[in-house]
Amino acid sequence: MKIKQFPEGFLWGASTSAFQVEGAYNEGGKGLATTDVCNVPEGIADNKIAADHYHHWKEDVDLMAELGLKVYRMGFAWSRIMPDASGRPNPEGLAFYDQLIDYLLEKGIEPLVTLYHFECPQALVDAFGGWKSRKMIDFYVKYAQICFEHFKGRIKRWVTVNEQLIATAAGIMSGNHEKDPQKNLKNIYQMSYHVSLAEHKAMTVLREIDPEAKIGPVCAIQVVYPQTSKTEDILAAENAEELMEFYMLDMSVRGEYPPYVAKYLKEKGLYPEREPGDAGVLKSSTPDFIGVNYYFSICVKEKVGPINYNQPPFWVSDAFDICDNPYLRKTEWMDKGIDPAGLHIGMRKIYNRYGLPMIVTENGMAYSESLGEDGRIHDDYRIEYLKEHIEQLKIMIDEGMPVFGYCPWSFVDVVSSHQGFAKRYGLVFVDRTDTDPKQCARYPKDSFFWYQKVIARNGLEE
Ligand code: BG6
Repeated sequence: MKIKQFPEGFLWGASTSAFQVEGAYNEGGKGLATTDVCNVPEGIADNKIAADHYHHWKEDVDLMAELGLKVYRMGFAWSRIMPDASGRPNPEGLAFYDQLIDYLLEKGIEPLVTLYHFECPQALVDAFGGWKSRKMIDFYVKYAQICFEHFKGRIKRWVTVNEQLIATAAGIMSGNHEKDPQKNLKNIYQMSYHVSLAEHKAMTVLREIDPEAKIGPVCAIQVVYPQTSKTEDILAAENAEELMEFYMLDMSVRGEYPPYVAKYLKEKGLYPEREPGDAGVLKSSTPDFIGVNYYFSICVKEKVGPINYNQPPFWVSDAFDICDNPYLRKTEWMDKGIDPAGLHIGMRKIYNRYGLPMIVTENGMAYSESLGEDGRIHDDYRIEYLKEHIEQLKIMIDEGMPVFGYCPWSFVDVVSSHQGFAKRYGLVFVDRTDTDPKQCARYPKDSFFWYQKVIARNGLEE
């Protein structure tokens, strides 16, 4: 059997986030998070128990070791480490992560830790509005500093922010519940600007505390195709990528908005308020790598007619209009279509623009699943999805792009960002439903055993 071999030391991993996996939302001194207090519709699981990783963490790390993971892309819950507005760390929260990190290291698995993955302390939203206020910058930097000092030498790679686009646009995560659509957009861009300042300050703090460690953002890459070869459609696709992806990555890497975005925000009255000295902060650091989350591509056409405010805020624009891509295979949960080549197209653009090493921090296939009579999940569809995307990574590596790892979403089934447990991505099935958490017992799926072989061979079969 011939193997398409990956480079030695390639980081085969898997991914979760704290608020979607841990549960124990009010245990161990944890404060409430934005994601604990949002109203989840009746019949859909919230994250109060989630996958109950807080009580299954050891068994989960044992499964990771059995899988052969080299890296575990996980998150800290900000509200577990910093539960209130005093800025003081919660020793029990740090102790929970101590045991988890130490056990991962004992098993030879590198923890790649995200500081801020959608949830943030509700106490800070109550106290001053969260990211709407510049005060949030100081709290984030303090939180980052606590983590960098406490885990120095044990955590070698950090992620500043997961998907800044969603983190700031989704009111259930940011705590911004402004009803007026224009004011809401203004808030979003202001919050995102504050996140960028916080990110740069945190990167500088890490360089001082632990110069050996690496740090970077995780971006929800937007691979946007034009509906036709009409110039207007092509420009709409370019605009969409600038507004939904490069505006944040440019802030992370170059410390400024792309010219098109700066002009767009000024014209629309959305340009954030700044203070003297900000430009220096934004230019004061650069990331070591870029993490890439990719699930599907999108398709747009020229915008005609009035703005449709009845869609996610990041699609509310007169610069493009989201449309269907008829060329892609679709499923119930992957309704934009499955597009492995899109990963290559998107990462090539990122590499050509920034020249930084990249790791895929999320990529996965959602499906509604329940245990078969044989106690197994035969998820061939997920195996196919992962295989097709890993093949694209190999192509990138052969082209000379510095891609150093791959972390499918998700290691175990986790509660979806807003669609509960009906929508699962895990390599390991978690036995619970939306309405009945049961014991959250773990059952490796067929994709687990398939991925185990990929890792062992360091590549795919030809
Ligand atoms: C990414 C997030 O956007 O997509 C994850 O970083 C999220 O937190 C994942 O769960 C899948 O999205 P969803 O909405 O299907 O859970």
